[in-house]
Amino acid sequence: MSTFDAVELIRTKRDGGRLTDAAIDWLIRAYTDGRVSDEQMAAMAMAIFFRGLDGAELSRWTNAMIATGERMDFSSLSRPTVDKHSTGGVGDKITLPLAPLVAACGAAVPQLSGRGLGHTGGTLDKLEAIPGWRASLTNAEMLAQLESVGAVICAAGSGLAPADKKLYALRDVTATVESIPMISASIMSKKIAEGTSSLVLDVKTGAGAFMKTFDDSRALAETMVGIGTAAGVNTVALITDMDAPLGRSAGNGLEVAESIEVLAGGGPADVVELTVALAREMLACAGIDTDPAAVLASGGAMDTWRAMIRAQGGDPEAPLPVARHTEVVAAPADGYLTGMDAMAVGLAAWRLGAGRATQGDPVQAAAGVTWHAGIGDQVRAGQPLFTLHTDTPKRMERGLEALVGAVTVADAPVERRPLVLERISAG
Ligand code: URA
Repeated sequence: MSTFDAVELIRTKRDGGRLTDAAIDWLIRAYTDGRVSDEQMAAMAMAIFFRGLDGAELSRWTNAMIATGERMDFSSLSRPTVDKHSTGGVGDKITLPLAPLVAACGAAVPQLSGRGLGHTGGTLDKLEAIPGWRASLTNAEMLAQLESVGAVICAAGSGLAPADKKLYALRDVTATVESIPMISASIMSKKIAEGTSSLVLDVKTGAGAFMKTFDDSRALAETMVGIGTAAGVNTVALITDMDAPLGRSAGNGLEVAESIEVLAGGGPADVVELTVALAREMLACAGIDTDPAAVLASGGAMDTWRAMIRAQGGDPEAPLPVARHTEVVAAPADGYLTGMDAMAVGLAAWRLGAGRATQGDPVQAAAGVTWHAGIGDQVRAGQPLFTLHTDTPKRMERGLEALVGAVTVADAPVERRPLVLERISAG
C-alpha cells in the first residue's frame, strides 16, 4: 500500500479538494493502526465536516472502514436476510416487534444492535430488562438462531468496522458527529459488514430526532441509500416523524411491555402502523409476498418473539421489573393535546435512570416515562398525563423538571403529520 502524508491529505480536504481512493484506504488503515494520530484525524473530520465527501469518496471511505474488520456471511442460510436500522428516536422500540414479525413472515433478520447513550435508549438495554436474556452471541450461535428462529437481536461484536468505533468516539468529542457523509459512512459500514442482503432504513425527522429538519433527513436517507446500493445491498429508506415520541412509553422494561402488547394484537396505533410499514418494506426487499398485518393479527409474530427470547436465555413469561417509585404529572389545562416534546420526554426518561451518561454506566430496567394521551387527544386539567418511574427517589425531581412545558394543550385539535413522510429508494 502506498504511503501518504497525513498533513498533506488534511490540507487537500481543508481546501476543498478530493481524496484519491489510495489516500482514503491509507488514511483509514493508518488511523486504525495508530499511525495517524487522533489530532490529525480530528482535523480531517473537521475538514470533511465543512467540505464533505463526494459520492465516490464516500463509497471508498465506507469500504475502507469495512476492510478494517470482519465481514459476516449469511449466504448459507435458507432464508433471505433483511435488516432494519433506525437513526433513533424517543420511544422507538420498533425493532422489538418488527424483527420477530418479519421472521414469522419467512425472512432472516440479523439485528446487530447497540446500547443507548444520551436521550434515546438502546435496543440491547431494553431487552436486558427481560430476566435471563443475554446480548452476546458467537457468530455460530447467531447463524444457528437465524436458521431456526429467523430473528436475532444481539450485540454487535467489536470486530465489525473497528475504524468506525475509533472515529465515532473521536467525532463525539470534536463536534464533528453532525456531518451527513460521516454519519452515513458510519452507519452503513456496520450494516454492510454485517452481511445482510437487504436493508430498510428508518430515518427519523423532527424535534426528537438526530436530524431536526426534513431536508437534512432526506439528504441523510439519500446518502445512505446510495452507499448501500453501491455496495450491492438492496436498500430503501422511510423518513418518519419524530416530533412527538413514539407510542406511550420511553424506558427499557416499559418499552418491552409495550412491544409485547403490539405482538399480542394491541398496543399504540403509531407503533403498530410503523411496525407494519417497515415490515412491508423489508418483506418487499426480501422478495417475500406475505401480509405482515395478517401475521401480526394471527399471533405468529408473538410465537417467534417467545422463541427468540428463549434462544438467548430469556424467560418470555417472567414478569418485567417494576419501578419502586412513581410520580404522576397532571394535564395543565382542558383542551386538546397538540404537542409533546420528544426531546423533553427522552431527557426525563434518561434522568430517571433509563439511559446512561457515559459508556459502561448501568441502566435501570424499570425506569422511564409513560404518557396517557397522544397528539390529538382531548384532555381535562388535572387528569394524569405522565407517570414517571424510577428506583432512585433522588432522580425524580430532575425528571419532573425535564417535563415542565413539555406538552401543548390548545382549544382545537390538530392532526399529527403522517408517520411515514417519504420513501427513498435507489434510482
Ligand atoms: N450513529 C452511528 O452509528 N454513527 C454516527 O455517526 C451517528 C449515529
